[in-house]
Amino acid sequence: MTIVRRAHNTADVIILGAGAAGLMCAGIAGQRGRSVMLLEQARAPGEKIRISGGGRCNFTNLHTTPANFLSQNPQFCKSALKGFTQQDFIALVEKYRIAYHEKSRGQLFCDGSSQQVIDMLLDENRRSDVQMRLGVGILGVTKNDSGFVVATDQGEYRSQSLVIATGGPSIPKMGASAFGYKLAQQFGLKMVAPRAALVPLTFDVAALAQFKDLAGVAVDAVVSIGKTRFDEALLFTHRGLSGPAILQISSYWRDGLDVVIDMAPTRDVLAALKDARRERPRQELATVLGDILPKRLGQMVADRIAGPPRLADFSDKLLASVAAAVKEWRVRPNGTEGYRTAEVTLGGVDTTELSSKTFEATSVPGLYFIGEVIDVTGHLGGFNFQWAWSSGVAAGRHV
Ligand code: FDA
Repeated sequence: MTIVRRAHNTADVIILGAGAAGLMCAGIAGQRGRSVMLLEQARAPGEKIRISGGGRCNFTNLHTTPANFLSQNPQFCKSALKGFTQQDFIALVEKYRIAYHEKSRGQLFCDGSSQQVIDMLLDENRRSDVQMRLGVGILGVTKNDSGFVVATDQGEYRSQSLVIATGGPSIPKMGASAFGYKLAQQFGLKMVAPRAALVPLTFDVAALAQFKDLAGVAVDAVVSIGKTRFDEALLFTHRGLSGPAILQISSYWRDGLDVVIDMAPTRDVLAALKDARRERPRQELATVLGDILPKRLGQMVADRIAGPPRLADFSDKLLASVAAAVKEWRVRPNGTEGYRTAEVTLGGVDTTELSSKTFEATSVPGLYFIGEVIDVTGHLGGFNFQWAWSSGVAAGRHV
């Protein structure tokens, strides 16, 4: 037997960031017999996993396909998603006997707590002798002929391969930062400008005045920008619009674009209004709309229309504009709540700089990027974790 003595601050692979992607990558690389060291700035690993899905972690989605991801290069995600699928992750969850359920639309959540997913990943890492250092401040990274040197506030660490799994800048109060972007730029890699995504939309005072009294009202809606549409719940808040439908569309919103909202997607509103005019001519518009929409929302639409007191006096043309106000409500956000509340970050390391099979930077041998730090961003519903698992496994098989 050959005993290889290794300095305790040297490893084949160093991974920066013990989040979803880093933990996954570490376990896979360790299973291949690579010595792996995970360096994490926080006091605990997997903090975003812990708070995700309301504490139950929406860990994947049964219906994951490449179409659930945004990137300047939509082909890039295909190989990794195929190499480690949602079914592969579910098999791991089942191996650890973690009970889970489908909430809706293929979204899988733990029955118990997201800590079970963290414990599962940590157990995988223990089995493959991954060493983890928590509370480590990274001061800088350099590359020389024998590999990478990571300078930290606890001394230097050296490795042949270096994996950047430090995520994106969303939720800075949890320690999220643009560290990975700066490192990519240090090594001359191109970036796709980052932007907050899966985030509530905000409005100027005039627009907000129309609906701020509706804070707390929710409605099933179809929300669209151009041909992109999401059919999910919308929530009115004191600051603007939120809820799954809005978070989804926020990833497609750009300054100056209108968002079009159908607040009664399953109803033929014009036909319902004409029926009501015939059958209940003395009623007020707000009362009739209260049968189609939540009452306070119906009142808001009626106030905006400011029509005659009784439905009998509404012309066909005016009824058509009421129907349009419900079915094609057009609003123009003035921004988003930004990284403070964004679930993820769009953009990041340009995928043209990376191999889609190994996640190695083509111009910097031994340097890998995985997870959210890359310009691949999932829809809401478990897709972002699936990307962390799939990209982590792909790199873990090659580092
Ligand atoms: P992640 O952010 O998980 O990990 C990065 C790690 O690197 C962190 O541990 C961080 O501390 C560390 N780090 C950063 N800078 C460092 C440095 N300089 N040195 C050392 N370490 C450093 N997705 C989903 O699919 N289902 C869900 O239910 C949810 N829910 C959810 C809720 C909330 C509130 C948020 C904010 C996000 C979600 N997400 C989600 C998104 C999901 O959390 C996200 O896509 C993944 O965590 C990304 O995984 P990464 O490993 O790339 O980054």
